[in-house]
Amino acid sequence: MKSSRIPGFYRLSLDERIDKLAENFELTRAEIDVLRSQGALELEQADKMIENAVGIYSLPIGVALNFVINEKEYIVPMAIEEPSVVASCSFMARIVRAGGGFRAGSTRRVMIGQIQVVGCKDFRAAQNALYAAKDDLLSAANSLAPNMVKRGGGAIDLEVRTLNDNPLSTLSPMLVVHLLIDTQDAMGANTINTMVEGIAPLVEQTTGGRVYLRILSNYTDDCLAWATCDVSPDELATEDFTGPEVVDGIVKAYEFAASDVYRAVTNNKGVMNGIDAVVIATGNDWRAIEAGAHAYAARNGKYGPMATWSKDERGHLIGRLELPMPVGIVGGSIQLHPMAQVALKFLRVRTARELAEVIVAVGLAQNMAALRALATVGIQKGHMALHARSVAVTAGARGDLVDLIAQAMVEANDIKLPKALELLKQYQ
Ligand code: MEV
Repeated sequence: MKSSRIPGFYRLSLDERIDKLAENFELTRAEIDVLRSQGALELEQADKMIENAVGIYSLPIGVALNFVINEKEYIVPMAIEEPSVVASCSFMARIVRAGGGFRAGSTRRVMIGQIQVVGCKDFRAAQNALYAAKDDLLSAANSLAPNMVKRGGGAIDLEVRTLNDNPLSTLSPMLVVHLLIDTQDAMGANTINTMVEGIAPLVEQTTGGRVYLRILSNYTDDCLAWATCDVSPDELATEDFTGPEVVDGIVKAYEFAASDVYRAVTNNKGVMNGIDAVVIATGNDWRAIEAGAHAYAARNGKYGPMATWSKDERGHLIGRLELPMPVGIVGGSIQLHPMAQVALKFLRVRTARELAEVIVAVGLAQNMAALRALATVGIQKGHMALHARSVAVTAGARGDLVDLIAQAMVEANDIKLPKALELLKQYQ
């Protein structure tokens, strides 16, 4: 694939779009069938994934185009039912690529397994004993995850914190052991939980306390990814707004979210529209990503907007998004889900870190799209145009008729099925 920019892609028929991707990504017949839903998740597979399975819930998969991240071209698969998200994301990626694309980076990928220890006679002494036994605890943990260790990962360190050790606290004093685990390209939830459950007896023996909870933390602040963009105001001008007006509108929208939790939550829902869609398409655990992202948005003690937007001395719009992003490209349901495999083929990411960087770039693009629309014409105009298309399809329109009928309904300010049916009769 040379470029993620495919002009007129949205105007192609569904078959033509699939053909285009099949050609660009050298998709196999089986992968094409997955896109056509013929070879997607089978009931038998679903039955092995969860209990009491009775069916399969489907979502549309679209591709966001135009992404350039760290000078590499990306076509980004998104699983989402909401109209406008894929289109607006692609549009923002096009605007950002005009200035060279997104810059993205990430920290090492270290996950946390927590072990809660209560009832120690002397919490300080127990803490010291755990540090003294660190090597034994790490090797016990690693003996439970030979495959992860073989891939170069495993438990790499241990931290111990005391909680509620103030005598005035009404909560029980406890120790919390953090087992730090390099999960390589996997999210590693199962392995982390196996490790913390496995070493719990040794922790009890070492501390003389009693272990209760043994579970991973979804607050992975040692597994962060960030993306930035630098957009010239010239790229942001619309028919009715100048570029500098749009820049100021986006910065004001950010300031609104930074000062008001009611707005911050909605703002962040827009960020997650982009993030969740890629997380779901790639077979990752979106609840984990959601939980970590919202907690990170409150890391300074006050819930705020996930991304920041400012204007630099040249009048350019500068955006930045940083989030915990513990996604994987192997393991879990990723290998089980045929669509996740096709999604990863589109993305062409080599590591989980690279996937995390793409995902935050998409979140930043999505936030920019929402703020740009909200600070100018509002979101309903774009939504209505898309809604009109789906009403036209419901009425039975196909091919060029879809856009024709949709446009006529928008112009008549009557986007309802009877109008679509009337227009269809007229045009057919
Ligand atoms: C809608 O799904 C998302 C928005 O509400 C986000 C926002 O308000 O920033 C448009």
